[in-house]
Amino acid sequence: MRIRIDTLLKSTVANEDCRIAGWVRSVRHSKGVAFIVVNDGSNLAGIQVVADQTLTNFEEVCGLGTGSALQVEGALVASPAAGQAFEIQAHSVHVIGASDDSYPLQKKRHSFEFLRSIAHLRPRSNTFGAVFRLRSRLAQAVHQFFIQKNFLYVHTPIITASDCEGAGELFRVSTLDAAMPPMLDGSPDFSQDFFGQKTGLTVSGQLEGELFALAFGDIYTFGPTFRAENSNTARHASEFWMIEPEMAFADLADDADLAEEFITYLCRFALEECTDDMAFFDRQIEHGLLERIRNVSEASFARIDYTDAIGRLERSGVTFSYPVEWGLDLQTEHERYLSEQVVGGPVFITNYPKEIKAFYMRQNDDGRTVAAMDLLVPKVGEIIGGSQREERLDLLDARMSELGIAQEPLWWYRDSRRWGSCPHAGFGLGFERLVMYLSGMENIRDVIPFPRTPRHCEF
Ligand code: 4AD
Ligand code: MG
Repeated sequence: MRIRIDTLLKSTVANEDCRIAGWVRSVRHSKGVAFIVVNDGSNLAGIQVVADQTLTNFEEVCGLGTGSALQVEGALVASPAAGQAFEIQAHSVHVIGASDDSYPLQKKRHSFEFLRSIAHLRPRSNTFGAVFRLRSRLAQAVHQFFIQKNFLYVHTPIITASDCEGAGELFRVSTLDAAMPPMLDGSPDFSQDFFGQKTGLTVSGQLEGELFALAFGDIYTFGPTFRAENSNTARHASEFWMIEPEMAFADLADDADLAEEFITYLCRFALEECTDDMAFFDRQIEHGLLERIRNVSEASFARIDYTDAIGRLERSGVTFSYPVEWGLDLQTEHERYLSEQVVGGPVFITNYPKEIKAFYMRQNDDGRTVAAMDLLVPKVGEIIGGSQREERLDLLDARMSELGIAQEPLWWYRDSRRWGSCPHAGFGLGFERLVMYLSGMENIRDVIPFPRTPRHCEF
């Protein structure tokens, strides 16, 4: 059985016989000794294998191409070389899959743009090794956080008939003949479609999550989310993962408290559990990252009312590309100014104008704002969007009719306000934006294994 390199290095028992398998990062040889760095994905540095002329295939080993797959048997010994405690003195090196000079990941540093074009190979690079190890650990930490708080994990549907956010960004799911759909009064007749109605991929599990919160108290979802939003930015993907907790008997302040506890937990987790990869990001991706994350893990987050935030932006003296005016939504440049310049850390903006927010948000007594919150962080901007929900059926109905949202298809959602309705609140954390924030990576395409963005769905 092979042992993973990270496990081997933690064992710290020298002279042990071991077997590893992985891919060659580099080979050099001089005076009858070859030094091969092998990486199996389990850690950043891999391990140095030292092979000498006693190996029957020493020539073959010296000629190994970067990227070759190897199995090595040998002894783990203290390494005389700087920067590593141990190395493997090889008894045998078995070449499992050869590689050659045409392998695109040769040793030099490549641009992230280039690496995106070889998304099938980039997981074998240092940066993407670190990113996807962090991503995996964070996904596990998300579950740990909610397990420890006794939240119920619910799988909300991926195919849905309702556009939760009301932004018309549903990808259509249909088995109708795209070239010749059955027609009714001049438009496609979706009653003949697979589900007997118009359906799409979910933009959020919230509405179904609310129903579960009204039975189990505290719940969360963690699943893929799809948005046919034609915005080509460094922060938007067409397919991303979202974590959506929902709490019954909770208001907006409880919601912000949970979000704050969640984010600081994840920051501490990354610092404590992903030490090597986080140190790599600090060295290679963003200088000062560790200190930034450490500060956040200890901070309590600022909370600013939307109306005050607009005042701050108006008085800033900065010329923004998008207008600043009460009633308009905040753009990324405004969000970044608020978190980077005004606060210097994460900040909740609360109580947005109802016109720019979704139908389900609870109306405030002023008649013009809703109990919404966005969490903005330096560099990334909005990382969380959430709200207290409108639990009063009459006010929900009034808002739906103002927005032209039909009652009939949401009968089940309205029912939840008829029997045992109660104050409840929740939020959505964009998982990729979290990974960006914790790694310092600046493009969402570089924290998703195989990103889907407008006109890109290759791998
Ligand atoms: O603010 P949003 O649209 O909120 C909701 O979907 C609510 N239903 C959540 C809730 O209250 N349960 O999205 C939530 C978060 C955003 O703050 C952002 O981090 C992320 O999801 N997000 C995206 N991430 C990547 N690509 C996109 N196109 C995203 N759209 C939203
Ligand atoms: Mg939002």
